[in-house]
Amino acid sequence: MSEQQYNYGMVGLGTMGCNLVLNMSDKGFSVAGYDKDPKKVDTLNGLDVHNNIEAFNDIHAFVQALQTPRTILLLVPAGPIVDAVINELKPLLQAEDIIIDCGNSHFTDTQTRIDALAKEGLHFMGLGVSGGETGARFGPSIMPGGDLKAYNRISSMLDAVAAKVNDEPCTAYMGKGAAGHYVKMVHNGIEYALMQLLAETYHILKVHGGLTNEELHDTFDSWNKGRLQSFLVEITAAVFTQPDEEGKGMLIDFIADTAHQKGTGAWMSQDAMRIQSPIPAIDAAVTQRILSSLKQQRVVAARFFNKENVVEAAPNKETLILDVEAALYTSFIITYAQGLAMLQQASTTYKYETDIAVVASIWRGGCIIRAALLKEITEAFRKDDKLANLMLAEEFSEQVKTGSIALRRVLQKGLQYAIPMPGFSACLNYYDSYFSEWLPANLIQAQRDFFGAHTYERTDKEGTFHTNWNQTIY
Ligand code: 6PG
Repeated sequence: MSEQQYNYGMVGLGTMGCNLVLNMSDKGFSVAGYDKDPKKVDTLNGLDVHNNIEAFNDIHAFVQALQTPRTILLLVPAGPIVDAVINELKPLLQAEDIIIDCGNSHFTDTQTRIDALAKEGLHFMGLGVSGGETGARFGPSIMPGGDLKAYNRISSMLDAVAAKVNDEPCTAYMGKGAAGHYVKMVHNGIEYALMQLLAETYHILKVHGGLTNEELHDTFDSWNKGRLQSFLVEITAAVFTQPDEEGKGMLIDFIADTAHQKGTGAWMSQDAMRIQSPIPAIDAAVTQRILSSLKQQRVVAARFFNKENVVEAAPNKETLILDVEAALYTSFIITYAQGLAMLQQASTTYKYETDIAVVASIWRGGCIIRAALLKEITEAFRKDDKLANLMLAEEFSEQVKTGSIALRRVLQKGLQYAIPMPGFSACLNYYDSYFSEWLPANLIQAQRDFFGAHTYERTDKEGTFHTNWNQTIY
């Protein structure tokens, strides 16, 4: 049994858990690891270069090796495994110990666990980690939420291991309760929408623009040097020059066109409906992944529609690329606007007390949706923490207005040439709706009152009204 008392514990020594332990070890924290799999235990012990790590496959020895009050991080798959680990640990812990779930758990599960463990005097925190394996190893963006006292006990460690932008750590307190996992869910929903927009960009440039993989690489690469600079644009550029290992050409051309998902994007859409916050770009991205998976049906259906009625005019490549860049940039802004507006709404609904400027600032580095744009987004919310929508901020209103013209032109091409663009379309429709003083919802109210006596409000006086409509059609 170990003599040393370790600063932190980590349960789950898969790639993410192992990399986070190594990151903590580099920063001078001693860490005890636990995994049921002896191979993972041996691997981590073999990587202990600073002599401050010890991995166990005996949970009693692991818990006893930790300094008290204990701080135990979990990096295990979301769902029942989290509860199984908690149940194994619980009898071995004592009041004031902290368990931190670093996986992509659903925020409602996190809230249930917080409440249940609080009854036993234990702190439970939901903490989002973004940045994949490399992020975990060298600096992720970290989104912790929960009890502030518990957060204060771990904040210096989180600051040390997180990515840095201008020496500022990409981590901060996200708010009360399950705020950490909620913010991570919103991060992932935005990630889905940005990826969908990039896929649509690829589609129109490849199919209508006729760009080769090399030209696609050069286009995304040059965009990444400008206002679109972001991790997702950067990796998209790199994808187009990745050769196929079997020497058949570029790998991208051999990857099946069915997108998978683990569900975090759909969770965001589901909760957006619940709390009544419109996020059509994220909804479209989730739906389009589902549609892409209907491959067999698409193959059959495509035989009936070979685009024979679509007459394509040869595009001016340069003009098309300029327009698509503006459409993409504008849609990126609109996507962040939708995600952050939902977060603002959720913070009120769930009493998280989340500071949107802080969220935007910790997404500037380390995470999948990191982008140069987040600097201006942070500033906009710093200036006005009650900002109802990012598109109204002075930094963005003019940019979105100008960009919407190119976005409209790109969508016209998509419609004309039967190139589906649900992400771009959702962004433009959101923009057009949000900036419309009048929407035809009066007709919907009239219909509701007509068939169901659901009542309506009037434009010329206060109150709720019902009309005995002329129901001769019955
Ligand atoms: C991150 C990612 C990560 C997510 C993957 C896969 O922030 O590092 O969001 O948490 O699990 O991107 O998500 P899907 O399988 O749902 O695409």
